[in-house]
Amino acid sequence: MENKIPLSVVGLGHVGLPTALGLAELGWQVTGVDSDRDKVTRISGGQVPFYEPGLQELLSKHLESGRFRPTEDINEAIRSASVVFLCVGTPQREDGEPDLTQVEAIARTIAQHLNGYKLVVEKSTVPIITARWIKKTIQRYARATAPVAAGAGVSNANGEAEAPALDVASNPEFLQEGKALKGFLEPDRIICGVETEKAREILTAIYQPLKRPMVITDLTTAELIKHAANAFLTTKISFINTIADLCEAVGADVTQVARGIGLDPRIGPDFLQAGIGYGGYCLPKDLRAFIRLAEEHRVDFDLLKAVEKVNEQRIDYFIKKIRQVVWVLRGKTVGVLGLAFKPGTDDIREALSQKIIDRLLKEGASLQLHDPRAMANMQRVFPREAGRVSYCASPYEAARKADVLLLVTEWPEYRELDLARLRDAMEVPVLVDGRNLFDPHELRAIGFEYHSVGR
Ligand code: UGA
Repeated sequence: MENKIPLSVVGLGHVGLPTALGLAELGWQVTGVDSDRDKVTRISGGQVPFYEPGLQELLSKHLESGRFRPTEDINEAIRSASVVFLCVGTPQREDGEPDLTQVEAIARTIAQHLNGYKLVVEKSTVPIITARWIKKTIQRYARATAPVAAGAGVSNANGEAEAPALDVASNPEFLQEGKALKGFLEPDRIICGVETEKAREILTAIYQPLKRPMVITDLTTAELIKHAANAFLTTKISFINTIADLCEAVGADVTQVARGIGLDPRIGPDFLQAGIGYGGYCLPKDLRAFIRLAEEHRVDFDLLKAVEKVNEQRIDYFIKKIRQVVWVLRGKTVGVLGLAFKPGTDDIREALSQKIIDRLLKEGASLQLHDPRAMANMQRVFPREAGRVSYCASPYEAARKADVLLLVTEWPEYRELDLARLRDAMEVPVLVDGRNLFDPHELRAIGFEYHSVGR
């Protein structure tokens, strides 16, 4: 079966495009489909529509190798594939529930094109039992539509046409933006929730070249693993942020505490970086959805409600800290370093920088913003405004005549800054570091008034 199974990936966003190109890199023939015509045109022209390290090169490579074929024709993408990966968005509705409209729409489209066996693989983060709903929806609408292609269907005991065999699997993605390709090509584990031996065999064959541990479960368990993983990560972050508050209160150093506990393999060193909290498109949304899901099933998950509350309070904490440092914000010039929700991406969805900018503008400050990648995206949310919001070509420009400089995203290039130059550019050299990027001793030795988190 190796490398012969035609694959389609539906949705070419932050998860879909790395998945499609990663699968092509493993040697599979992949059709990538997206309903956004402009996006498909750009991808077909060899342009990745967002910033993700290494993706541009892989796109060029597999457009050239012919193993990746972008299209906007969903019907054809489904008909041509035996395995369809669903990587469409599941945005959050106003009431906090995930919006599964796109997932349902694709399920209905698949129902119309069951021209042979299909394995539908759910990769988007979805609530538990979505995989079962996908299957039910496909089966329901397949029966309601015109007879499937000649020879493709089978007849039941009554001689009625039945839809061809269908399997649904849950194969949650754990990749992190900014490290998406590494996440796909060198995953710690591959989780596959399946119902049949055939689905298990196919997914095992697809991922076999990676030679990484596979955990095969039932559908619901796989879906729960994804939720539990993201919820645990947020728990670690809110835990260390609360420890940071305590460190500030008693005069301890949170980075040393994180190191001290993280060396215990039962705890582990990752996701113990104290700061202004977690943002981005996934963790906040997924945690909210998981809390709702637990509520729906009458499971008391107060622990996660506390995790969410701690995170929501981080912005108040940061603004309060800035106020304690500069006193009155009205009329002050504030330089902001870092706008992306984390380094390595131009993504600003649910970025904490947005909340910080909003609060500072309301307080009457003028902002000089810089980010290595995310300025174009942020300008759509906060357009340039003379004397109020400006976007700067360099960190030094963001620091020019500023009363205070904020470090919001810990881009590694900020660590390489000429700190004396930064200091000299400012009206007064005050730096509030929301991510503990800098060494306090070094900053103070250079003449900065330096404030960070939990140390
Ligand atoms: C997250 C998970 O880490 C991935 O495993 C998962 O696949 C993905 O969500 C998803 O569900 O699609 P991602 O949103 O790309 O990945 O970003 P993370 O690297 O997890 O960072 C999220 C936020 O947490 C960032 O704002 C980051 O600054 C913050 N963070 C992270 C901390 O404040 N402290 C830390 O120690 C680590």
